[in-house]
Amino acid sequence: MQNQKLRLGVNIDHVATLRQVRGTGYPNMVQAARICEIAGARGITVHLREDRRHIQDRDVFVLRKTIKTRLNLEMANNADIVSVALKVKPDEVCLVPERRQELTTEGGLDASGQKRQLGPTIRKLTDAGIEVSLFIEAAAGQIEAAARLGAPVIELHTGTYCERKGAAARKELRILCEGARRAHELGLVVNAGHGINLENAGGILEIPYLNTLNIGHSIICHAVFVGLHRAVKEMLEAMKNYRRSLG
Ligand code: PXP
Repeated sequence: MQNQKLRLGVNIDHVATLRQVRGTGYPNMVQAARICEIAGARGITVHLREDRRHIQDRDVFVLRKTIKTRLNLEMANNADIVSVALKVKPDEVCLVPERRQELTTEGGLDASGQKRQLGPTIRKLTDAGIEVSLFIEAAAGQIEAAARLGAPVIELHTGTYCERKGAAARKELRILCEGARRAHELGLVVNAGHGINLENAGGILEIPYLNTLNIGHSIICHAVFVGLHRAVKEMLEAMKNYRRSLG
């Protein structure tokens, strides 16, 4: 397991953003997912938001049928979206907090404060054969709550680290490293995501025990200049020397 390759999941929400902004039938989501998979992505992530600002229900159903790797559905703990997930049956659901006006997901889920709300949803999704991941901050209390809730996977929120520079970034990175160690001790699979780009990916690779990085915005932005296939390849190249643990 020590040198197991770090997987890349590509979030293609912003391919849908380009379509929704003009109400066109293009760019095609199936084609986008396929290009990412051919380039080496191990999974495709989409966030079905309550306001449907980019991904639409139909996208999720079509992607379920067409992708060859793993479909990771990001979603809020909302009854309507949970019922869509139970019909789609993605390989994985990542539960995230959601606020209507936010530009993107802000902060992690409060796993320790929302046990009563999260518990039944995690059970329903798990009973349907869906792997549940909780998008949380790297605080020990949140990680321990995720483990107690029976979620087998967590995704560490890397957004704060990615926004910071210098000493402030180093401090956030230490918190992420400690969080990943604690999660590993508890037997959780550890993913990470939010705000990762080619510049800050080097620091992210210092986090031990990572299984998958979920990356969207920076890859789609880079794809505007170099094409989606090359943008995915360049990120994979940046990730290739990952060592899961130094022990
Ligand atoms: N992981 C989660 C849980 C997210 O909410 C997002 C944003 O949708 C991402 C990863 C990808 O973040 P980014 O688009 O900044 O790479």
